[in-house]
Amino acid sequence: MNVLMISPSFPSEMPHFAKGLAAVGARVIGLGEHPTSMMPPDLRRALADYIQVSAMFDEERTVREVVEAAKRIRIDQIECLWEPGMLLAARLREELGLPGMTVEHTLLFRDKERMKQALDDAGLRVPRHRKAATPDEIRQGAEAVGYPLIVKPIAGAGSADTHRVDDAEVLERVIGLVQHVAEVSVEEFIEGEEFTFDTICHGGEIAYHNMSWYRPRPLIARTLEWTSPQTLALRDLDEPALAAGKKLGRDVIKALDFQSGFTHMEWFRTPSGEAVFGEIGCRPPGARSVDLMNYACDLDTFVGWAEAVVHGRFSQVVERRYNSSIIFKRAKGEGRIRSIQGLERLIARYRPHVLCVDLLPVGAHRRNWKQTLMSDGHIILRHPDLQATMEMSDRFGTDLEMFAE
Ligand SMILES: Nc1ncnc2c1ncn2[C@@H]1O[C@H](COP(=O)(O)OP(=O)(O)O)[C@@H](O)[C@H]1O
Ligand SMILES: [Mg+2]
Repeated sequence: MNVLMISPSFPSEMPHFAKGLAAVGARVIGLGEHPTSMMPPDLRRALADYIQVSAMFDEERTVREVVEAAKRIRIDQIECLWEPGMLLAARLREELGLPGMTVEHTLLFRDKERMKQALDDAGLRVPRHRKAATPDEIRQGAEAVGYPLIVKPIAGAGSADTHRVDDAEVLERVIGLVQHVAEVSVEEFIEGEEFTFDTICHGGEIAYHNMSWYRPRPLIARTLEWTSPQTLALRDLDEPALAAGKKLGRDVIKALDFQSGFTHMEWFRTPSGEAVFGEIGCRPPGARSVDLMNYACDLDTFVGWAEAVVHGRFSQVVERRYNSSIIFKRAKGEGRIRSIQGLERLIARYRPHVLCVDLLPVGAHRRNWKQTLMSDGHIILRHPDLQATMEMSDRFGTDLEMFAE
């Protein structure tokens, strides 16, 4: 099987998926802008061939170049696990007459209005919503939806340009702030906690699933710089408090007729226990969440995903042994990292449970925490007990400090 994989070297999870494809016997053909000489050797070894295009996101040009390349390189299947490339993958499938998700189908996982419309039609619990392209449409949307509400891009990511609006006055301010966004969703604001429901599917069936808990809610994490946001992959998915979300997740996969690959859904659990849909992508979550899944069950979802999409089976053994958590750190102050404090004490205390410490070194320039959840570094840990996992995560959140100037 010759599998064309879009962007095999970026983001940082992609080489693992490319190697997963090679590990299950696929001939992997990479597609990207950069020469293979820029790739690490193990990724280069995983690629049987490579199509280097001039400008990947110039869709017309990329389509032309890939159609041309396909005259000499056989392509049987196209995979992409990176949000900005999902529609390109679908378009290429259509141009080359290959099976898999079409552009129309992919839009259900990309366009936040279409996805919610489809789920409304299936009778699932979705926030009330309106699509709006002009200030007046936003006002009308707010009228229909009621306050508090959320204004967010129809094709957003990472909580960018997402605003909570509590009254008409704030709405006017937000209208000014989202002027550069072509189309927005005006949505009922849902109170509660936020979780994920992630799957690997084949043949329309869920072969593996994961649920993670965001602490705090992503919009808050993105608004308050002093927080150390956590994603926590939960061990006990049979917990009654998760049942409604799990059912919603399964219903969404059915309603959107997802067949094969990774999905990443977000949902809200309201104070009354109701599960409300948030959004879904037909790709894995980013920011090392796939590693959290692997650490929670000691499995390899990179290979598991590859086996599912290439061979239509999932033979990894899923034993949920741990809760695993990642804690993202933001330095205090601007400029370069000057010192890191508290790490030794925390490591001495929690050593057996800490899997990874990856902080920017002293002297490095801070990352833009609004642009990347990865912020100035992260810690990954795991523990069989949820309470202990939360306590450790919170200790790293507060007692580990990075300072910049
Ligand atoms: N209807 C809503 N009610 C409450 N919070 C919301 C709502 N929609 C979005 N948010 C907040 O904004 C964040 C980002 O929105 P989301 O739809 O997940 O977009 P993306 O992650 O693609 O930027 C969510 O994680 C959540 O914290
Ligand atoms: Mg989201």
